[in-house]
Amino acid sequence: MPHSPKILVAGATGMLGGQIVNALLDRGAPVRALVRPGSDRKPGLAALRARGLELVEGDLTGPVESLAEAVGDAATVISAVQGGPEVIVDGQANLAHAAEKAGAVRFIPSDFAVDITKLEDGDNFMIDWRRQSRTAWAGTGLDVVSVLNGAFYEVMLGFMGLVDWEQGTVAHWGDPDQPMDVTSVQDAAAYTAAVALDPKATGTLRFAGEVLSMRQFHDAVQRASGRTLRLRHLGTADELRAEIGRQAARTENPFDYVALQYQWCMVTGKGKFDTLDNARYPQIAPESVADFVSKAAPAA
Ligand SMILES: NC(=O)c1ccc[n+]([C@@H]2O[C@H](COP(=O)([O-])OP(=O)(O)OC[C@H]3O[C@@H](n4cnc5c(N)ncnc54)[C@H](OP(=O)(O)O)[C@@H]3O)[C@@H](O)[C@H]2O)c1
Repeated sequence: MPHSPKILVAGATGMLGGQIVNALLDRGAPVRALVRPGSDRKPGLAALRARGLELVEGDLTGPVESLAEAVGDAATVISAVQGGPEVIVDGQANLAHAAEKAGAVRFIPSDFAVDITKLEDGDNFMIDWRRQSRTAWAGTGLDVVSVLNGAFYEVMLGFMGLVDWEQGTVAHWGDPDQPMDVTSVQDAAAYTAAVALDPKATGTLRFAGEVLSMRQFHDAVQRASGRTLRLRHLGTADELRAEIGRQAARTENPFDYVALQYQWCMVTGKGKFDTLDNARYPQIAPESVADFVSKAAPAA
């Protein structure tokens, strides 16, 4: 039976998932979103529905049979979920098995990170879960395509806690000249949509809006914001690893130090992409850090 080109997106109420749906609709793709019961009233969904997004209720921690019904006639399943191991490892395994059961051919897991293929267990617990989840779909017949985008600009300016507008500083660990891969959420979503609609895309594909060092990031943030910010060195990469160890020893909640683990993966170069696949989709002209900051920075 020929497959329809329909695409199922899990995580459409999230930061990245909503933008992936948007990018797919922009390209004229029929899209169905798998949304948890009660999440269908979340902001943003109404506008996507008005553009033709179809909704189906479902939870990745639910039974494979009902998830398979939700996948229905979708040929491609994109996961942009976030959560603990019950979602990222077990839930995504359920979704992949449901996709296979329903007859889908392709699965794009919720990776969207630095180079998870180069990291080792213990470097970053959230990336460990993403590597663990890979074993779940290795046995399926699905064509699995992993999309990696480095760190989001939004995260570099927010969650990482690097830029302190009040204190007028940009903080960093390690070598300020170590190159890093960074991308806006919108461009990561555009690349993901392009991958989903590209029948030849396979394996792990790596994209970056920009490749720049902390020194260049600091320059771009200053230039675009019109602010003078002091580049503040917090310690070496080894001292960062020791700080992560200290924090891990005194908290039960690993999310307290995961931002430091992401920074360690970047400032050591261990999670750095060796190659980029941007050229595969020349129609996407990713936004620069400076252009992004000029819109996002607080008024000087
Ligand atoms: N590289 C980077 O810098 C970076 C930064 C941030 C995120 N990311 C990655 O991007 C991906 C998406 O993250 P995000 O920040 O966009 O996530 P988010 O905004 O927290 O949204 C998470 C989504 O997952 C859904 N979800 C959670 N548990 C679910 C379940 N059991 N069943 C079905 N749906 C479930 C949520 O639905 P509800 O609305 O029902 O809660 C929501 O739609 C993740 O892989 C994340 O690691 C990368």
